[in-house]
Amino acid sequence: MTSVEQELNRLLGDARAELRAASDITAAEQVRVRYLGKKGLITEQLKRVGQEPPDVRPEIGARVNDAKCALTEELETWRHQWEAAALRTQLEAETLDVTLPGRGLALGSLHPVTLARQRIESILGGMGFARAEGPEIEDDVRNFEALNMPANHPARAMQDTFYFDAHTLLRTHTSNVQVRYMEAHRPPFRIIASGRVFRADSPDLTHTPMFHQVEGLMVDENVSFSDLKGVLTEFLRAFFEQSVDVRFRPSFFPFTEPSAEVDVRCVGCSGNGCRICKQTGWLEVLGCGMVHPSVFHRVGIDEERYTGFAFGAGIERLVMLRSGVTDARLFYENDLRFLAQFR
Ligand code: PHE
Repeated sequence: MTSVEQELNRLLGDARAELRAASDITAAEQVRVRYLGKKGLITEQLKRVGQEPPDVRPEIGARVNDAKCALTEELETWRHQWEAAALRTQLEAETLDVTLPGRGLALGSLHPVTLARQRIESILGGMGFARAEGPEIEDDVRNFEALNMPANHPARAMQDTFYFDAHTLLRTHTSNVQVRYMEAHRPPFRIIASGRVFRADSPDLTHTPMFHQVEGLMVDENVSFSDLKGVLTEFLRAFFEQSVDVRFRPSFFPFTEPSAEVDVRCVGCSGNGCRICKQTGWLEVLGCGMVHPSVFHRVGIDEERYTGFAFGAGIERLVMLRSGVTDARLFYENDLRFLAQFR
């Protein structure tokens, strides 16, 4: 065995030992460069071929090439095995149990009051009522005076008002939209206006200091109380999705004459008496009446020629009755367990 061959065997042995110890691709690459690179230890052996006697040179050249080939092959094998192992480890780490139920994302939903407003607007829209709007911050005139409630009128005590100053307040009802609409439009018209109203009540089962109303107003020649009854009866049946019994009870509002309150047969007990209706069998759902001639007069609508009706309903109250909600405060506590039940 020539000294070159001995050297080659030694180098191959070293290279194999280093390769066995290599822990990753970079280490294996270092082994390749160290032995097979341009100035690699095995490559360098080629230079020594020239120093050998001519008759053995081809033989020795072939040995060097054999060594290079052998090591190249081993490096390739090592590489394949390492890559396969790396892939196995990765697959094991990323194991996914596709049979597990999905976590999903909870679907958002509209607030029950918003849903009810949309329903109300759609039902009354189908009867030809267009939407109107008015401000939540209102003046004393549109919220009270123009509706026949001058300063110190006892009816003002029915509604505890949040005042900003002597003339500016948070509207206590949506009836301010009646005034504003009639100031700006001439009959005939039918409108509804829904939105927030505010009263300085302490919160309890049936009161929150902010709640929602929907106001209706229809004015034309020959509008009568039976039109009012027809529209409201139809509206309530559509809203509660049952042919509910409806009762009109004489009442008083300064801005309507005659006035009535409307009750529906209790949806909780069908009239037998229960906690929801306080054993009366009836639930009050809205106030209404024929527009008072002096309200027309003040906004410049000819009270001799036109008549009209108006109504106002509490939206939370309607939702409570329809869906069996027994605490009005739930609407404003932002508890998703409650809110997500309405879709
Ligand atoms: N605005 C009245 C209230 O809030 C309800 C109402 C509206 C009554 C329209 C008659 C006509 O109590």
